[in-house]
Amino acid sequence: MKQKILVTGGSGYIGSHTVVELQKQGYEVLIADNLSNSTEEIPDRIRQITGVRPGFEKIDLSEREAVRDFFQRNQGIGAIIHFAALKAVHDSVAHPILYYRNNVGSTINLLENMTRLQIPYLVFSSSCTVYGQPDQLPVSETAPVKKYASPYGNTKRICEEIINDTCQVYMANAIHLRYFNPIGAHESALIGELPLGVPNNLMPFITQTAIGKREYLNVWGNNYHTPDGTAIRDYIHVVDLAKAHIIALERLMSRKNKTKTEVFNLGTGTGYSVMEVIRSFEKVSGLKLNYKIRDRRPGDVEQVWADTTLANRELGWKAEKGLDDMTLSAWRWEQGIEHGLKSKL
Ligand code: UD1
Repeated sequence: MKQKILVTGGSGYIGSHTVVELQKQGYEVLIADNLSNSTEEIPDRIRQITGVRPGFEKIDLSEREAVRDFFQRNQGIGAIIHFAALKAVHDSVAHPILYYRNNVGSTINLLENMTRLQIPYLVFSSSCTVYGQPDQLPVSETAPVKKYASPYGNTKRICEEIINDTCQVYMANAIHLRYFNPIGAHESALIGELPLGVPNNLMPFITQTAIGKREYLNVWGNNYHTPDGTAIRDYIHVVDLAKAHIIALERLMSRKNKTKTEVFNLGTGTGYSVMEVIRSFEKVSGLKLNYKIRDRRPGDVEQVWADTTLANRELGWKAEKGLDDMTLSAWRWEQGIEHGLKSKL
């Protein structure tokens, strides 16, 4: 067994897929999660996939004393992958203090204990949202971080900076992974995205519409300056994304990082429009999706996709799965959700 890795938010969407990949590589995993956007069944679901149930503790990482106690109880953590965060853009506009307290507070609490216990490696779950609408496409890691579009986006930027400052004075090293748009699910259909209430994001809204939970999909705007008028994003399969975390972790653990903190974009390098995602879904599912064209959604950027050169070269990582793999796996997951998972839907 390799080192013990703490995965905060490890029962969430990207976290759970990353736990699977860590276990496949022989790591011992401990999940810390408050279950605010996941269920307690996820560790068992992971065991069904890998044969090993990851360690699990329900904990609110924004509570300073609770986090200290957690680290007292759990010795021998070699590195941390930090996913735990609230992530709904519009919710963050309505509840900024909640978002700052939770996302920034949790990160500070983790760093406090990391530095106290001299845990040297951190992989941080960041977002392409820090680029806003970039001036140049594809967007590379050197693109300026724009004035934040939402408190959620700002928490990601602030957390990156707090981590950077901390790593300058302690022995810690960190990699910030800026995700583009993760969609899809594990091929087993045992884990996937479990949105709280009505989904904000495109893919779960598509699959919930197709299965009959929603009457129709709203397509937010078809008058963008894009070939078909709908907004363009760089969708990436969540399993490809999860694999990059293990590579980033091992880069840190083998001291291959060139600076104490590094940033990598995680996308495929290809942008697809909302209509292209819908068409892909219709193709793989054989269904016609009910949708209506609406006004633009406030705060949405027109188009963004990743320059993946740095991640390809430095991490030796490349996304492998295409759009149809993503939409098909998302559909299989949606069809399987009802089977035994006490989801919050
Ligand atoms: C945004 C952030 C991302 C963040 C995520 C969290 C950017 C570029 N991306 O993703 O970093 O992690 O929020 O939620 O800021 N759409 C519809 N109908 C729907 C839902 C979405 O047409 O019902 C469209 C959107 O207008 C957008 C695309 O689908 O063009 C993707 O939307 P979504 O899945 O919500 O992700 P982003 O807003 O790109």
